[in-house]
Amino acid sequence: MKKLTAILVLFFGASLLWWGFAVSQEKPKASTPKAASEKADTTKAKEHAYVGATKCKMCHNTATWGKIYDKWAATKHAAAYTALAGEKAQTVAKNLKIEDPQKSEKCLVCHVAGYQASAKLKGEKYSMEEGVTCEVCHGPAGDYLKSHNKKDNEKQAIADGLVKPTEELCVACHNKQSPTFEGFKYEEAIKLVEHHKPTMEELKKTEAEGK
Ligand code: HEC
Ligand code: HEC
Ligand code: HEC
Ligand code: HEC
Repeated sequence: MKKLTAILVLFFGASLLWWGFAVSQEKPKASTPKAASEKADTTKAKEHAYVGATKCKMCHNTATWGKIYDKWAATKHAAAYTALAGEKAQTVAKNLKIEDPQKSEKCLVCHVAGYQASAKLKGEKYSMEEGVTCEVCHGPAGDYLKSHNKKDNEKQAIADGLVKPTEELCVACHNKQSPTFEGFKYEEAIKLVEHHKPTMEELKKTEAEGK
């Protein structure tokens, strides 16, 4: 019973302290808001650095991986940045009074990887030319690159930032905010960008076809 009282006293004491702190924070103090926001930042989830699509090519472009890199490179995702220099993009941009779509945040947010990420996370080798990269769908790989390639280590890889892509992720870009949007059907769309590790049977078939 004594123990319980002690815990209660401690709890209310802590609540009072917290309340006092919160009230003191409410008063606008011109000199300290920066410190307060810095404090809040420490509770943010860890952000992961970008490594670029060529890093994935090293391992994921073999026949046993179904040449995933080449498959991606053949999709419009890989050309999403260069497409912003095309005729259609110029027309779309003109209508929206945007001078250069390859320089406009209004277009780049969906046409390149991690547009809003800090320069530090993107690193020196980051290139918008790579368009909508592997890391857009699988997460920035700075931390999971070294953990995700081990067997039965998915839990760790996910903790390190590996993302399991879902329809929700696609719809973050494939929506009405896209000036050229004409609807999005996940089941059909996923078939056009799909890639997977081939089964033994599939491997034998592609070998026989001499691909
Ligand atoms: C050093 C080789 C290597 C590199 C580089 C590499 N991977 Fe992998 N990756 C692997 C191996 C091996 C596996 C299979 C791990 C297993 O056995 O579960 C894998 C599995 C995966 C998976 C499936 C994971 C799951 O749990 O479903 C994804 C997605 C993936 N890699 C994406 C990437 C991306 C994106 C990049 C580039 C940023 C990349 N990998 C770079 C070797 C590599
Ligand atoms: C909300 C995300 C988003 C924004 C913002 C966005 N796009 Fe796109 N863009 C897409 C997606 C997704 C596609 C492919 C499907 C579609 O057309 O919606 C696409 C396709 C395109 C295409 C190819 C269309 C075709 O029919 O071949 C062009 C050109 C284009 N966008 C230009 C632009 C320009 C220019 C801007 C900036 C003014 C812009 N986009 C802003 C997501 C976006
Ligand atoms: C970061 C934004 C973004 C995300 C996330 C995204 N896409 Fe896209 N997608 C685009 C843009 C931009 C284009 C158009 C590029 C162009 O036409 O130049 C596009 C084009 C496509 C196309 C046409 C590809 C082709 O080669 O014909 C398909 C299909 C597609 N996306 C499916 C998906 C699916 C499925 C997902 C989720 C697993 C997804 N996208 C996630 C931005 C995105
Ligand atoms: C538009 C989104 C998108 C892009 C871009 C993308 N992937 Fe994927 N990837 C997926 C989806 C969806 C799956 C299937 C779901 C899953 O396995 O979690 C997948 C599965 C995988 C797998 C597991 C395959 C298997 O059968 O085990 C690997 C490895 C992989 N991707 C690597 C890559 C690499 C490397 C790139 C770039 C060269 C890339 N992906 C680009 C969406 C994408």
